[in-house]
Amino acid sequence: MNAVIFRSFGGPDVLESAHLPRPEPQAGEVLIRVHAASVNPIDYKIRSGHFHRASITLPAVLGRDVAGTIADVGAGITDLAPGDEVYAFLGSHSGGYAQFALARANEVARKPRSLDYIQAAAVPLAATTAWQGLFDHGRLQAGQRVLIHGAGGGVGHFAVQFAKAKGATVIATVSPEDVDLVQTLGADEVIDYKAQRFEDRTAHIDLVFDLIGGDTQTRSWAVLKNGGTLVSTLQQPSVEEARKHHAHVSVFMAEPRREQLVAIAKLIDAGKVCVAVSHTHSLFDAREAHDELEHEHSTGKLVLTVA
Ligand SMILES: NC(=O)c1ccc[n+]([C@@H]2O[C@H](COP(=O)([O-])OP(=O)(O)OC[C@H]3O[C@@H](n4cnc5c(N)ncnc54)[C@H](OP(=O)(O)O)[C@@H]3O)[C@@H](O)[C@H]2O)c1
Repeated sequence: MNAVIFRSFGGPDVLESAHLPRPEPQAGEVLIRVHAASVNPIDYKIRSGHFHRASITLPAVLGRDVAGTIADVGAGITDLAPGDEVYAFLGSHSGGYAQFALARANEVARKPRSLDYIQAAAVPLAATTAWQGLFDHGRLQAGQRVLIHGAGGGVGHFAVQFAKAKGATVIATVSPEDVDLVQTLGADEVIDYKAQRFEDRTAHIDLVFDLIGGDTQTRSWAVLKNGGTLVSTLQQPSVEEARKHHAHVSVFMAEPRREQLVAIAKLIDAGKVCVAVSHTHSLFDAREAHDELEHEHSTGKLVLTVA
């Protein structure tokens, strides 16, 4: 099968085309014929050697998100069959930048019927992260005020829609390019982070969902209610500040959960959540896609098409 691999850590030019043997699904696994795979920041962080370096065996195939059709199933898989249309949030045992990818049963679900493969591939990792950050870690409730930093990106644009679907009031910080999109997605207040300081515009926040880290996270203490919650995908919030604000804090790594992929597909098919794909590249232009996500502004998601 065709794939894009990397043999050493470095810039986008370490990505190269290769022919690999088609994997065989083992018990509890499915083999997916990949039609599209999305690019996430974790892909370039792994490629550059800044993340999970010690646990990566090279050469490796990147890519945590795929959409495609079931090509084969391993023993014990009874609810999916060849030809079924699926999407998956792959664990680190697999890679989506290839014509075929293995997924464990817990990582794969039927793709939202209303999406094509390109849109469906943009969903799993980013939407699962948004879901787990808001609901599993943030325990967001209807009527609460949530501040989402980085709301125009892959995770953020799902988080805005999930929080609105839950009945929360959403305050969003975004790049100027994303103000219109995030308003259209339903955010109640949208703050251009390059033009205004969010702490001058908002206050009394029940939950801060931090997709940026650094100074943005530190400044968020000023707007969090006493007893509120600060959840980050990037950086452990200060325990000292948490104590002062009687706050609940967490940093987390999203994990594939089939029941969440099913719930997310239902919301999408009900028309409550849409998917923003800013650009597509062919699999063999993965270098350009990495360069773009790492160095340029991108709204929503970047997706690789796989022939
Ligand atoms: N822990 C986990 O399991 C997990 C899972 C998914 C993602 N993540 C991490 O979470 C972060 C977000 O992921 P993503 O996929 O949503 O990334 P993304 O698609 O690159 O989106 C990030 C967005 O934040 C905007 N931004 C940058 N600085 C900002 C600021 N100071 N205030 C507000 N917005 C700002 C960016 O706009 P500009 O480009 O114009 O700056 C971009 O639109 C990444 O660092 C990623 O690695 C972690």
